[in-house]
Amino acid sequence: MKDASPQAVYLSDYTPPAYLVDKVSLVFRLDPAATRVLSRIEFRPNPDAASGQPLKLDGEKLKLIGAAVAGEALQDGEHSLTDTALTIPASRLPDGPFVFEAEVEIDPSANTALEGLYMSNGMYCTQCEAEGFRRITYYPDRPDVMAPFHVRIESDMPVLLSNGNPGDSGDGFAEWTDPWPKPAYLFALVAGDLVAAKDSFTTRSGTPVELGIWVRPGDEGKCDYALDALKRSMKWDEDVYGREYDLDVFNIVAVDDFNMGAMENKGLNIFNSKYVLASPATATDTDYENIEGIIAHEYFHNWTGNRITCRDWFQLCLKEGLTVFRDQQFSGDMRSKPVKRIQDVLQLRARQFREDNGPLAHPVRPSSYIEINNFYTATVYEKGAEVIGMLKRLVGDDGYAKALDLYFDRHDGDAATIEDWLAVFQDATGRDLSQFGRWYTQAGTPRVSVTDDFKDGTYTLHLKQETPATPGQPAKQPQVIPVAVGLLNPNGDEVQPTTVLELTEAEQSFAFDGLSAKPVPSILRGFSAPVILDRKTTTEERAFLLAHDTDPFNKWEAGRALAKDVLARMVTERAAPGPAYLNALERVARDDTLDPAFRALALRLPSEDDMAQTLFDAGVTPDPLAIHDAREKLMLALAEHLSASLPRLYEAMNIPGPYSPDSKAAGCRALRQTALAMLARLDDGKTAAKQFRDADNMTEQLGALGVLLSVGHGQEELGTFYRQWQSDRLVIDKWFALQSSTAAPRKAADTTLALTRHPDFDWKNPNRFRSVIGGLAMNAAGFHDPSGASYELVADWLIRLDPMNPQTTARMSTVFETWRRYDADRQALIRGALERIAATPGLSRDTTEMVGRILGSA
Ligand code: BES
Ligand code: ZN
Repeated sequence: MKDASPQAVYLSDYTPPAYLVDKVSLVFRLDPAATRVLSRIEFRPNPDAASGQPLKLDGEKLKLIGAAVAGEALQDGEHSLTDTALTIPASRLPDGPFVFEAEVEIDPSANTALEGLYMSNGMYCTQCEAEGFRRITYYPDRPDVMAPFHVRIESDMPVLLSNGNPGDSGDGFAEWTDPWPKPAYLFALVAGDLVAAKDSFTTRSGTPVELGIWVRPGDEGKCDYALDALKRSMKWDEDVYGREYDLDVFNIVAVDDFNMGAMENKGLNIFNSKYVLASPATATDTDYENIEGIIAHEYFHNWTGNRITCRDWFQLCLKEGLTVFRDQQFSGDMRSKPVKRIQDVLQLRARQFREDNGPLAHPVRPSSYIEINNFYTATVYEKGAEVIGMLKRLVGDDGYAKALDLYFDRHDGDAATIEDWLAVFQDATGRDLSQFGRWYTQAGTPRVSVTDDFKDGTYTLHLKQETPATPGQPAKQPQVIPVAVGLLNPNGDEVQPTTVLELTEAEQSFAFDGLSAKPVPSILRGFSAPVILDRKTTTEERAFLLAHDTDPFNKWEAGRALAKDVLARMVTERAAPGPAYLNALERVARDDTLDPAFRALALRLPSEDDMAQTLFDAGVTPDPLAIHDAREKLMLALAEHLSASLPRLYEAMNIPGPYSPDSKAAGCRALRQTALAMLARLDDGKTAAKQFRDADNMTEQLGALGVLLSVGHGQEELGTFYRQWQSDRLVIDKWFALQSSTAAPRKAADTTLALTRHPDFDWKNPNRFRSVIGGLAMNAAGFHDPSGASYELVADWLIRLDPMNPQTTARMSTVFETWRRYDADRQALIRGALERIAATPGLSRDTTEMVGRILGSA
């Protein structure tokens, strides 16, 4: 039975667990449809909780075979059993510590939700975060209950893995011991016909660690990059954070059916195969970059998440925000810091600002939820990481290093809170962070508006902050906003190097004196705070900053702002792109002193969704088709303006020799791709067609195919590509996504409908579903086709997927989160689609919550 009205959980209701666990022993007798799980759990009353409480264990979709307390079987009437819990009254429990044992039966083959123990391509695997362990056995499934685990797996599968260090193994069984106390969400088990790519790493204190990446036979040649990224991550965490690995083995398993990207289970990370497997022929530069970042992210969780975990799921940003911050630092160190920063801000704006400015806005630390899986959001992750970046900026690098040492020292082995985290910074640096704490509790993107004046050699910046109302939070208080500022002389010299202004009041002014001329300000350098900056400025000033700013982020931002201004005027006034913009971009394109990756980013036009958001913020109702057309026109105008230099640029960025995924080579390919996209507008795709034929790597092959499709060609190449890659799931995902995401606006729904009828549209596989249906949603003009056909198609598929996989359905429903931006007709169509989903009988709690919140009725 589904809950009739799902109950919300509140942070303010937190109470410590009644019983703690000293040790867990599990035996798995694996069978596809009838796996037996035997558990032996050593409980002890929690001295910090009220005494005499019943033992309440979470459990879902379990068949209880038998249970015992202190060696005596539970008789009928000695416990109560519901769909979600097994409860034993205090009267049936001994005083003091006791052992609870149970045997349950579960059906991994019927588990399509991919939470708990499930099967993927004949292999057993688990996903327990956030609340999947309760689908494996009865347990206090909450992160503040931590225990060492011993696991015995009985199965005739050749490879049997679990957390921790390997113990006894033999014919049909293997044992694993994880000495580090951990919450149940970090439990993992894998059993299958797998092969490993192996390597080793010696920690700085000299302990050898055996590394293994486990994949399906045939894929072992595609693990080199992931292994290399893992070793670099291990080294980096030692060098930068002083954190060593703490087990004898570190295993990673790649699975094809996975709801998320990857999972940090202690000593046994489980990954969506898309973020492990790579070869030059099958993976793009973006894939390589993602693999590096995600391998690092999950590895870094070993300290920020596993050794120190979260007290409750409201504290999710404690591990996720921090670990994202750490993986961003890592990628910046491995590649280019400025380029990484620009990419992260692009992503933040595309995902988090979008979320924060709509019906799903919530604080980095929410105060209530219905389904916790719905709170693994851009806000918790990406804004959570930004908040840490601001903290670091405010206390300085040394302060940050001290605070982190104290954090690891003080909280190792704890299930901690955001209060603990902030206290560490206060204690290490002496800084009062009470106002800063609002970043965790107030939702919404602050708008900082800036005016300035210049008098008698003094330049003054007047800053105002305002955070719009968000669901459940009508009024906001001023936050601490670090605004990094530099000043440039009219001749382009920097007269004031970067300094951080601390905006703490609703309105505040900051003066710079001793200047000989009115300077040009470069504000919010490095994107020093996740805010929307609002300042009246001119095209000339933007072009000036694009040419002269010493801060690479703001240099890029100036070009970005120029492009947005031009596009906005093209949409609203049907204006033609002016020479100021075209000339400014030409200088960037021709400036060989600039990093190619940076140039590629500077030349890339804002996405259609970004433009829709920008127009909406400026009070204009966005028309997705008009935005699409304007963007196409601007691309053509830019191509024509640059026509003389494009072929040269395209050739110059062609690096000879075999493909290498390193960031320098990838940067050249990115710029080459930008040039190719423009060239295609001039040569009707001839260069792209040739590149498609000649490509020896996926970056160039897929890049060429995408460009061909975007100029109305490529049908034949699509067929060639399919025949070449038919047997490679990850490549075929790209083939699907490319088509739904680049189909011409009017054809997008039909193209996608046809794709859903393709024999390879295996919709139960989350990657495939996301490629096709998510691809359509990314095709802004096609998704928002005025007929509403795309909305209906997406709704049909969400309704179909929901009973199989609620988690992925709920996540995908966020494609509708921006509906209030659009005109009344589109709003009515989207509302209709959402209401149809909401009215579906038996709709999951996950999707019910999301659709309700998007509609504004939950
Ligand atoms: N702990 C999460 C995985 C997870 C997410 C489990 C949601 C259960 C529900 C993991 O560390 C993670 O954050 N993965 C990200 C990728 C990462 C690089 C941001 C993911 O899976 O998207
Ligand atoms: Zn994570």
